[in-house]
Amino acid sequence: MRKKMVAGNWKMNLGMAEAKDLTENILKECRSLSQDQLVVFCVPYIHLHTVADVIAQANHKQVKLGAQNCHDKQSGAYTGEISAAMLKECGVSHVIIGHSERRQYFHESNEFLKAKTNTLIAQSMQVIFCCGEPLEIRNAGTQNEYVADQLKESLFHLSAADLQGHITIAYEPIWAIGTGVTATTEQAQEMHFFIRGLLRAQYGNDLADKILILYGGSCNAQNAQELFANPDVDGGLIGGAALKAETFLPVIQAMN
Ligand code: PGA
Repeated sequence: MRKKMVAGNWKMNLGMAEAKDLTENILKECRSLSQDQLVVFCVPYIHLHTVADVIAQANHKQVKLGAQNCHDKQSGAYTGEISAAMLKECGVSHVIIGHSERRQYFHESNEFLKAKTNTLIAQSMQVIFCCGEPLEIRNAGTQNEYVADQLKESLFHLSAADLQGHITIAYEPIWAIGTGVTATTEQAQEMHFFIRGLLRAQYGNDLADKILILYGGSCNAQNAQELFANPDVDGGLIGGAALKAETFLPVIQAMN
């Protein structure tokens, strides 16, 4: 039996007071998480301390602090960047790598994402690795090949132990992110099954059956339950719906 995970990706949203209020309001209401359920708050860098304090006060082992990016180098002249070690010091356990917005707006290549993944593993941290195809690829019907290349080029150099110990995959079709268009449960299950098959072929059944594969892209209070009910969907990476307690809590509850 795999765990379930719901990660909120706040992106570049919320002020300091809002960040504190939102985290407090959510944690107040999610005391009943079971051992095999995880909630991760992936917040802007400047809110890490605030949210870390709220999580520490709640003393909830099933709730983790996440970041949305990091640099691949350990330190040095990289103005404006943040290292994995710095994040770790702030209490961050999980880092989103390869979000489509980073790939698109900041031109992050599969090769660069591979380097970031290596850096995070060297720091004993957890990677939420995003993959997913743009609309033109989906329309051409070549989404499987596209996603396979993303995973192979950034992750498949890893040993089975590193992959199993550090990687959660998030499938986020770009055409569904922030658009209100969600992949149908069939489309989500089909791709998750395909991704698990790639893992199976490369690393064997044991690993493939253990890796969490999250769905992301307009996942919300209305559709989370149906999406998470698919055999290969192990939870979600949530953008817009993670910004309010009343929309995020039902997604967390959909893990039940
Ligand atoms: P969305 O974003 O839920 O707002 O579509 C998801 C994501 O980009 O991680």
